[in-house]
Amino acid sequence: MAQSEEYVFRRVEDQPELERLRMIERVFDPASRRRLLGTGLQEGWRCLEIGPGAGSIMTWMSELVGPTGQVLAVDLDPKFLGGTVRANVTVMQGDVRTAELPERSFDLVHARYVLIHIPDYGRALNRMLACLKPGGWLVLEEPDFSASRGITGSAEQLAAVGKVNHAIKVMYDKLGMDYALGQKLEALLLARGLQSVTMGKDGPSSPGGSDMATIMKMSTVQLREKYLATGVVTNEDLDRYCRFAENQESSAVYYATIAVTGRKAS
Ligand SMILES: C[S@@+](CC[C@H](N)C(=O)[O-])C[C@H]1O[C@@H](n2cnc3c(N)ncnc32)[C@H](O)[C@@H]1O
Repeated sequence: MAQSEEYVFRRVEDQPELERLRMIERVFDPASRRRLLGTGLQEGWRCLEIGPGAGSIMTWMSELVGPTGQVLAVDLDPKFLGGTVRANVTVMQGDVRTAELPERSFDLVHARYVLIHIPDYGRALNRMLACLKPGGWLVLEEPDFSASRGITGSAEQLAAVGKVNHAIKVMYDKLGMDYALGQKLEALLLARGLQSVTMGKDGPSSPGGSDMATIMKMSTVQLREKYLATGVVTNEDLDRYCRFAENQESSAVYYATIAVTGRKAS
């Protein structure tokens, strides 16, 4: 499989994908911003945003660093960034593993929900570290789908939630990706000698109809064929999962987000 074809959302329809990415931003940007500000992010910094998606963190960083700072955003497919680019932002189309990126140049490198889509994530991580200045900060946020479980709902719907979670695991396994990658982040940073490493985990229980439930329903609609191809779910299971995600009486931990911050040695 060509590297650019590995990304599971690569061939989904644009409009629902943009809506899904915007909903991810609405739910997860506040915590990401707090983590990024915790590094000391300020005017004049040079930032590298890997896999910006719909671009809200890229744009927010560019406002924060101002005209004396810079943001470089690198995405396999930057199709949703057209209208959002400001004077201090450069958007590059490329794969983080192979793109020609300036080394020892950035005060801050950030990626959210990107490494989980890369089988050789260690290679991607090494490239990101090479781009950091000595003393620069790395912030990574990745899912842990093994944290997922249905909590309240009908027995049938809870069974469907378990089966869809299994399908998510099998899909990522088949692609050589780790559906629980978030769990490994801290060890990955420590093994590479990062300093001041901190880790946080957020895996809330979310009711049906919430943004979190809707994000997972949208993923299920977009990845329906990939989930079916795992052989562990049927169309009926997927329909039940979607109804569960809409049902305000239901609740589930859909996944946890694990975030790490670390500093490259000076
Ligand atoms: C799930 S989206 C997350 C978007 C954004 N970071 C967010 O959290 O809102 C993953 C993004 O990473 C990009 N991506 C996936 N694999 C990549 C790679 N190998 N190199 C660069 N970008 C990649 C995708 O094109 C997509 O924009």
